[in-house]
Amino acid sequence: MDRRERLIARARQGFRLAYGVEPTRFFAAPGRVNLIGEHVDYNDGFVLPCAIDRETIVAAGPPAPQIREKLFEAVALDMGEMASARDRFDLVAPIRPGENNWQNHVRGVVQALGRYGHRVRPMRIAIAGDVPIGAGLSSSAAFGVAVALACSDYSGLDLAPEMLAKVAQLAENDFVGCACGIMDQMASAASVADHALLLDCRSLDFMPVPIHQSLAITVIDTGIRRSLTESAFNQRRAECEAVARHFGVKALRDLDFGTLLRGEPDLDHTLFRRARHVVGELDRVEPVGVALAKGDTAVLAQVMREAHLSLAEDFDVSLPPIDRLAQMVAEALGDAGGVRLTGAGFGGCLVAVARDDAGAAIDEAIGRYNDEADLPARAEVFRPISGAAEIMVG
Ligand code: GLA
Repeated sequence: MDRRERLIARARQGFRLAYGVEPTRFFAAPGRVNLIGEHVDYNDGFVLPCAIDRETIVAAGPPAPQIREKLFEAVALDMGEMASARDRFDLVAPIRPGENNWQNHVRGVVQALGRYGHRVRPMRIAIAGDVPIGAGLSSSAAFGVAVALACSDYSGLDLAPEMLAKVAQLAENDFVGCACGIMDQMASAASVADHALLLDCRSLDFMPVPIHQSLAITVIDTGIRRSLTESAFNQRRAECEAVARHFGVKALRDLDFGTLLRGEPDLDHTLFRRARHVVGELDRVEPVGVALAKGDTAVLAQVMREAHLSLAEDFDVSLPPIDRLAQMVAEALGDAGGVRLTGAGFGGCLVAVARDDAGAAIDEAIGRYNDEADLPARAEVFRPISGAAEIMVG
């Protein structure tokens, strides 16, 4: 059995144990790693993530026949800390927040579908996932998009990836309490296998960018988790919006470097640094996209280094051990590829985009880092898979 088959088997078994019958359909949505364009999605900018071969699977089936109310029932398995108990709620009454995270999340998705005018039928679901939680690989977006797809498809709605992503984002913003942008949900909903997704976060136009066959995507988990992530994330977002207001633009995407530099004397220095990261990062997306398609690792090395330093020094979302690890891996890679902090930051993962024969150099650098670090880092190569879809199970 491969990874996905095992996950499907667990979702199937969980469904059977919870409801005493077999599920009739299965849906999947992947996690993602962002290659470039960090903290720019909520500034209406361009981003370049790709889906990874770690997913949330939803097994779905009809509601219990003898129950008269319009009930939605859910059970979550295998979700690490999120796994606990079952949830059921009435689709006719107003949907109120549940007791813990995953329950809220399912309720939030069903409510968000309703707010976009889509009615969900009574159904039962079991959810299983293997996207690492809290690592910056968007386990939350995978969860939300998988549930949105299962609910909508099962209810006979054929929703575009953009709508699935918007539903999942609204659920997180309103029910889970994170002011996240749309990148993670779009990567989970719209990615194409062996490609990264160039996404315009303002229009939601997207274009798959091929990942050159000589390249491998390695995610290096620093092991560092930070509980402050949500409040610090929301604060960064508020700072960016403050700068946009200061310059009278809709979002930082509309600010050019010259205007920012001329305005520096009138701007609080922290706000200036935040904006310098965003405006600079926007210029890094296209070169990385081109280098990714061409397999130009020297460009990847240089631009990803700049991106990491900008996140560390201007956006203040890195930590000293992460900077140290990024530097050790960058030195080991030389021109063979780039490495930088990925995702929201404050811990989590580095991503390396490098020649596929550079794995030994990456491992060797991590080994040296682990000899001196408090927490061991771990590398894993991920395959860019396609976005959310129903799985036909024989
Ligand atoms: C988190 C958010 C995304 C994005 C990234 C930073 O993953 O959920 O919307 O803002 O951080 O690029």
